Amino acid sequence: MYNSKITGLGYYVPDNVVTNDDLKQWMDTSDEWIQERTGIKERRWIDPKSGDTTAVMGAKASKIAIERAGLTKDDIDFIIFATLSPDMYFPGGGVQIQDMLDMPTIGALDIRNQCSGFIYSLSVADQFIKTGMYKNILVIGSENHSGGLEKSTRGRGVTVIFGDGAGAAVLSRSEEAGKGILSTHLHSEGKHAEELALMGPSTGRWVPEIMEANDPDDVSYYPHMNGQFVFKHAVTRFSEAIVEGLQANNLEKSDIDMLIPHQANLRIAQFIQKKFQLTDDKVYNNIMKYGNTTAASVIIALTEAWEQDKIKENDLVVLAAFGSGFTWGSVVIRW
Ligand code: ACO
Repeated sequence: MYNSKITGLGYYVPDNVVTNDDLKQWMDTSDEWIQERTGIKERRWIDPKSGDTTAVMGAKASKIAIERAGLTKDDIDFIIFATLSPDMYFPGGGVQIQDMLDMPTIGALDIRNQCSGFIYSLSVADQFIKTGMYKNILVIGSENHSGGLEKSTRGRGVTVIFGDGAGAAVLSRSEEAGKGILSTHLHSEGKHAEELALMGPSTGRWVPEIMEANDPDDVSYYPHMNGQFVFKHAVTRFSEAIVEGLQANNLEKSDIDMLIPHQANLRIAQFIQKKFQLTDDKVYNNIMKYGNTTAASVIIALTEAWEQDKIKENDLVVLAAFGSGFTWGSVVIRW
């Protein structure tokens, strides 16, 4: 068995900054409400004229990650692409990356695990590397939320939270014992699927049916979130996933050098920080400037923390996420 380690990181966010005050042009909200409940000050939303899409942003982040890994596109053996907002209903975004980066005809897998998408993707990539099947895997998380949000007072409970962006990592084979990804832990609880979901269009509620009904009160094609229900589950499941990761490696919470929690809500991250008694320098948050970028959030935050020299050789880095599905999980890394 081999080990897998992250050898390249990159991210890309659209230039267009949307502040909390900017949102007031579409809905009844306030900077105070949004900051108090979520910690978010601004987010990036794609300017439709920019040409950015979920796949385009993913490709931009990927180029940076591949270059930083000291590799070329031809060294990548496999693509794993996580998103809940693909450019097309089908096919998924992985094949677009293969095309946009002009890569050989390698395999491309799409992951549909929303906010846990990057954690699930890293876990899948880790298995392929450990067994020796692949040497270098490009793992991407990218989201274009802004195109599908309801920009009105009716949709404000969800719309203010989400932002656009992409991150990518190259996971590579390593023979250094005790380094790289130590373990990954994945969970789901589908009975709560509808508490945070976008119900239509889908094969259960297909486009012609929605068009024929032409119902102005139909919100099935906007994301629905039972915020407080999700919040309560998030704090519990985040904690469980971190504890599970530590226990699997005989580690204590005091061993954590850097925790990168999925950026769902600053209040959730602060609750976890307190629970695990971590000082400010051991938790990285950027939800203040990007909002919740779902599958991209953990990888953007990890990249920024690394760029800012907050992660050093041998550090114990824990990634954790919770989101729609419900799905949740963690990744424990010895950097
Ligand atoms: N601006 C002003 N007022 C608002 C806004 C807004 N943007 N949104 C809602 N309100 C109002 C509501 O209408 C409600 O008013 P009322 O009391 O008069 O009815 C009041 O504020 C309270 O609304 P709640 O929804 O109860 O607000 P809450 O305190 O729960 O905060 C929030 C909402 C921020 C969404 C919170 O519940 C949360 O963060 N939940 C967890 C999110 C999460 O972890 N998601 C998982 C990942 S996402 C994924 O997987 C895709």
